Amino acid sequence: MAHATEKVAYNDRVVMQFAVATLIWGIVGMAVGLLIAAQLAWPVLNFDIPWLTYSRLRPLHTNAVIFAFGGCALFATSYYCVQRTSHAKLFGGKLAEWTFWGWQLVILLAAITLPLGITQGKEYAELAWPIDILIAVVWVSYGVVFFGTIAKRKVEHIYVANWFFAAFIITVAVLHIVNSLALPTSLWHSYPVYSGAVDAMVQWWYGHNAVGFFLTAGFLGIMYYFVPKQAGLPIYSYRLSIVHFWSLIAIYMWAGPHHLQYTSLPDWAQSLGMVFSLILLAPSWGGMINGIMTLSGAWHKLRDDPILKFLIVSLSFYGMSTFEGPMMSIKSVNALSHYTDWTIGHVHSGALGWVAMISIGALYMLYPRLLGLKGMYSTRAIEWHFWIMTIGVVLYAVSMWVSGIAQGLMWRATNEDGTLTYTFIEALKFTYPYYYIRFFGGFLVVCGMLLMAWNTWKTFAMAKGATRQTTILTEQVA
Ligand code: HEM
Ligand code: HEM
Repeated sequence: MAHATEKVAYNDRVVMQFAVATLIWGIVGMAVGLLIAAQLAWPVLNFDIPWLTYSRLRPLHTNAVIFAFGGCALFATSYYCVQRTSHAKLFGGKLAEWTFWGWQLVILLAAITLPLGITQGKEYAELAWPIDILIAVVWVSYGVVFFGTIAKRKVEHIYVANWFFAAFIITVAVLHIVNSLALPTSLWHSYPVYSGAVDAMVQWWYGHNAVGFFLTAGFLGIMYYFVPKQAGLPIYSYRLSIVHFWSLIAIYMWAGPHHLQYTSLPDWAQSLGMVFSLILLAPSWGGMINGIMTLSGAWHKLRDDPILKFLIVSLSFYGMSTFEGPMMSIKSVNALSHYTDWTIGHVHSGALGWVAMISIGALYMLYPRLLGLKGMYSTRAIEWHFWIMTIGVVLYAVSMWVSGIAQGLMWRATNEDGTLTYTFIEALKFTYPYYYIRFFGGFLVVCGMLLMAWNTWKTFAMAKGATRQTTILTEQVA
C-alpha cells in the first residue's frame, strides 16, 4: 500500500457539479413545495390547468426535494468524503461523470412526466418504468464508482462515514429494483407484479426504508464526516458509531408496516412494525448523541460559526423526529395521527430540519474548499440564512402539529347518540389558519435558499477574481 500522506489528485469536478445541482434543485423543489402549500391555503391557485393541479405537483415536489436535492447532496458529499478518507481518486474515470449526467436526466424526465400525469401511483416510486430502469443503471454505476474507490484506497481503515454511505447505496439499489418490478403495457404504463396487501407491504417496505436509508443513513454519512471536520475535533465515540451503524441498519428494515396500521395487512405484521419502530429510537438517538457530543468541551464554537449551527440544529431535528416517529407508530397514537397534518409536520421536521439543514451546512463547507478559498463570501449571510430557516421550519412543523392533532380529535369526536360532532367542512375550516402559517414558514425557508444562492454566486465570483489576480501576479513576475 502506498503511503497515506502522498498527494492525490482528486476528482472534484464531479463533486462540484453535484454540489451546484443540489442548490439549484433545492430551490426548485422547495419552491414547488411552497406552491402546493399555497394551493392548500388558496385552492384557486390550481388555475383549472391539469398540469398545475395539486395532485400532479405534489409528487413533483416530493421527487424534487428527495431525489434531486437530497440525491445530489448525497452524491456530492459521498464522492468528496470517500476520496479524502481513502486517499484515492474516484474510481471509474468517466463513469463518475456519467452518474452526474444520468441523474440529471432522471430528474429532467421526472419534471416532464409527473406534471403530465404519468405515474405508477406508488408514493416516492411514481416514475414510469423506463425511468425506473434508467435509475437502476445510474445507481449501479454509482455503486461501482463508490466501492471501486474504497477498493483502491491507500489507507487500511474504512472510515465510518463510508459505512453509512455504503449501506445507503446498496439498500437503495435493492429497494428500488424490488419495488419497481412491473409488467409494462405501453411505453408509459405498467402494472406492478405484486397485488393487494402484498403490493402495499412491498411498497411500504420500500417507502419506509427510503426514509431510513435515503433520508437517514446517507445523511448520517454526511454527519460522520462533516460535523467532526467543521468542529475540528474527532467524533465523540468511535465505538458508539459502530454500534450505531449495525443496530440502525438491522432494525430499520422491519419497521415498514407502521405505515399500514389498521389496514388489511395481517395484524401481527402491524404489531411487528410498531415494536421495531419503538426499538429504533435507541440507535437513532445513539447517532444523534454521537454527533452532538462531538462538540463537548467546545460548545463555544457554536457561538460564531453559523455552519456548525446548521449541523448541530439539524441533529436536534433528527432527534426530535426520531422520537416522534416511534410514538406515531404506536397503534393507538397512529389511530389519531394517520391521515392528518401531524404526519406532514413529522415529515418536515425530518426532511427540512434534518435532511435539508445538514445538506446546507455541508454545502457551505464544500463550496469554498472546492474553490480553494478559506470560506464563503459572507459569513453574516450564512448566519441570517440559519435564523430565517430555523424560524421557517419551526413555523411549518408547529402549525402542522396543531392542525393535525385538532383534525384527528375533531374527526373522531362523537355525540352521545353516536353521530359525529363535527362535519368534515368544520374540521377543514379549523385548519386554514395553520395552512397560512405553514405557507409563511415555507416562504421563509425559500427566502433563506435564495440568500444562499446569492452568497454562493458571490463566492464563485470571489474565486474567479482570486484566480485572475494570481495570473496577473505570475505574469508580472515572469
Ligand atoms: C419550503 C420548503 C417546503 C415546503 C413549503 C413544503 C411543502 C409541502 C406540502 C404543502 C406538502 C403536501 C402536504 C400535504 O399533503 O398535506 C409536502 C409534502 C411532502 N414534502 Fe415538503 N415542503 C418543503 C420542503 C421539503 C423538503 C426539503 C423535503 C425533503 C427533503 C420535503 C419532503 C416532503 C415529503 C416526503 C412530502 C410527502 C409527505 C407525506 O406524504 O406524508 N419537503 N411538502
Ligand atoms: C425512528 C425513526 C422514525 C420512525 C419510527 C418513524 C415513524 C413514522 C410513522 C409511524 C409515520 C406515520 C405513518 C402513517 O401513519 O402513515 C411516519 C411517516 C413518515 N416519516 Fe417517519 N419515522 C422516523 C423518522 C423519520 C425521519 C428522520 C424522516 C425524514 C427524514 C421521516 C420521514 C417520514 C415520511 C416522509 C413519512 C410519510 C410517509 C407517507 O405516508 O408518505 N421519518 N414515520
